[in-house]
Amino acid sequence: MPAGFSAWMASVQASVEQALADNLPPADATPQRLHEAMRYAVLGGGKRVRPLLVCAAGALFDAPAATLSRAAVAVELIHAYSLVHDDLPCMDDDALRRGRATVHVHFDEATALLAGDALQAQAFAVLADAAAGIAPARQVEMLRLLAHAAGSRGMCGGQAIDLASVGLVLARDQLEQMHRLKTGALLRAAVLLGAWCGKAPDGDEQRALEDYADAVGLAFQVVDDVLDATADSATLGKTAGKDAAANKPTYVSILGLQASQSLAEKLRIDAHTAVARFGAAAGPLRQLADLIVQRKA
Ligand code: IPE
Ligand code: IPE
Ligand code: MG
Ligand code: MG
Ligand code: MG
Repeated sequence: MPAGFSAWMASVQASVEQALADNLPPADATPQRLHEAMRYAVLGGGKRVRPLLVCAAGALFDAPAATLSRAAVAVELIHAYSLVHDDLPCMDDDALRRGRATVHVHFDEATALLAGDALQAQAFAVLADAAAGIAPARQVEMLRLLAHAAGSRGMCGGQAIDLASVGLVLARDQLEQMHRLKTGALLRAAVLLGAWCGKAPDGDEQRALEDYADAVGLAFQVVDDVLDATADSATLGKTAGKDAAANKPTYVSILGLQASQSLAEKLRIDAHTAVARFGAAAGPLRQLADLIVQRKA
């Protein structure tokens, strides 16, 4: 990883960490248990890939840091909520997340359900805040994009297909659609929201960003499937081998390990190609595509 990129990443991660902490209710505010659970779910772990995508895309369009911070927090809060619910007994029934007990294990199921609900609401509150410094019409478009990405035609829809697919052998296009929705939709929103924090992309630029986001969005979940099958729980900070144990159709179960790895590599190249028009300024987006495909956890 180039030194400049590592330093950029560390500085974005540090400022996002602070912005997340600032945009969550204090743990000692009533109802304390709910607020503690929200903070537990969001703070102190996670790669922050979606905030990094927000900031990398925003840099191409001269987006102000304070606006990017709002968008980054909003997307990460939706992501954190999705993980809390994904881990619930009625979904993947996982006990380990980001190297520690899942929210429903550390607190209880009802608190985890409510913490997820409240994180989702908080995401929209953060993005809708007048202090975000976004022109109102643009802000409404951004809220709509995030809502679509999180909803039944985005992440929730993908999660519904995931749960309905246990024990099934999906056709390749069905599997792709499931992955594009459950994971790709929010990653795509991260890229587009970042860009929309700055001066508006023109039609060609918008399409280039969408192509990039579609490639990294699918790649992210293909790699997640590969890591579930190949890495250990200590490295992942979540229970390895869950997909096979739960009989979930994944890229590994449908295509095999090698073909999945080759697909991820092809998508990495596709992502690079998509942003070629932006030249050197798209360095962070290219490095993030590399990170998403070459990560070990
Ligand atoms: C895990 O996402 C869930 C998926 C969408 C595959 P991440 O791998 O981004 O999880 P954190 O945020 O780093 O914990
Ligand atoms: C979850 O996919 C995607 C979400 C919307 C949270 P997984 O169920 O594969 O995510 P992990 O492996 O538990 O992080
Ligand atoms: Mg799941
Ligand atoms: Mg899961
Ligand atoms: Mg997984």
